[in-house]
Amino acid sequence: MDRPNVILNAGMTLDGKISTIGGDSKISCEEDLKRVHELRAKVDAVMVGIGTVISDNPILTVRRAKGRNPIRIVVDSLGKTPSDAKILDGSAQSIVAVTTRASEKEKNRLQDKGAEVLVLGDEKVDLTQLLEHLRKRGVEKLLLEGGSTLNWSMLHQRLVDEIQIAVAPKIVGGKKAKTLVDGVGVRKIADGVHLEFQSSKIVGENLLLTYRVKGLTNDSENK
Ligand SMILES: NC(=O)c1ccc[n+]([C@@H]2O[C@H](COP(=O)([O-])OP(=O)(O)OC[C@H]3O[C@@H](n4cnc5c(N)ncnc54)[C@H](OP(=O)(O)O)[C@@H]3O)[C@@H](O)[C@H]2O)c1
Repeated sequence: MDRPNVILNAGMTLDGKISTIGGDSKISCEEDLKRVHELRAKVDAVMVGIGTVISDNPILTVRRAKGRNPIRIVVDSLGKTPSDAKILDGSAQSIVAVTTRASEKEKNRLQDKGAEVLVLGDEKVDLTQLLEHLRKRGVEKLLLEGGSTLNWSMLHQRLVDEIQIAVAPKIVGGKKAKTLVDGVGVRKIADGVHLEFQSSKIVGENLLLTYRVKGLTNDSENK
């Protein structure tokens, strides 16, 4: 499958949460936010799930660094991205990937807001098709910025190549607080996603950990 190189990035507390029980996800320090903006400037597109748009309302542009804005992509089966979402503010190109379940009304509303609407899949957005489509139109590098549910789908379907996690020296607890990866999970460790440590670095007060995902078809170990 020809798809973009995918980097998953997240800010995470030491107890593995990417937001609190109250939905507060302002985990990273200023230095780390700058790193994320520099990363955005290096990729062609940045992608989030509809849960993140509703909860965080991110702009996903490059503001704390110099560089061009990536294409912003929302994975949103029913096309429920609110019309006043910052991701539709016109400051950069936006794509809303929906399914055949999205109504004509919602699709037209999103197009009227200037977004490109892609219909891929029936139940949930077909991520493989989405990535193939993006690659065909020139997206070589894609930054996945969450949240937990989309992270799970992307990892479980082996569509992530690299993981960058900024571990913040904070603990927030809460059984219902979102963790880095949610979804249904696997029963055996052997069935999980296996990673290879690449590097560690202090960024502000955070510890930036970088891993490579093992076992992908483009992985030299599998050739
Ligand atoms: N700290 C950080 O770095 C960081 C970054 C981002 C987000 N967050 C946090 O993460 C939380 C949001 O995570 P979330 O899990 O609720 O939502 P999410 O992962 O952002 O979005 C998940 C939603 O995307 C839609 N979707 C459509 N096709 C999909 C597919 N193939 N696979 C997976 N999802 C698909 C589904 O909704 P539909 O069926 O309605 O389409 C699904 O419920 C928020 O609390 C936010 O603050 C933290």
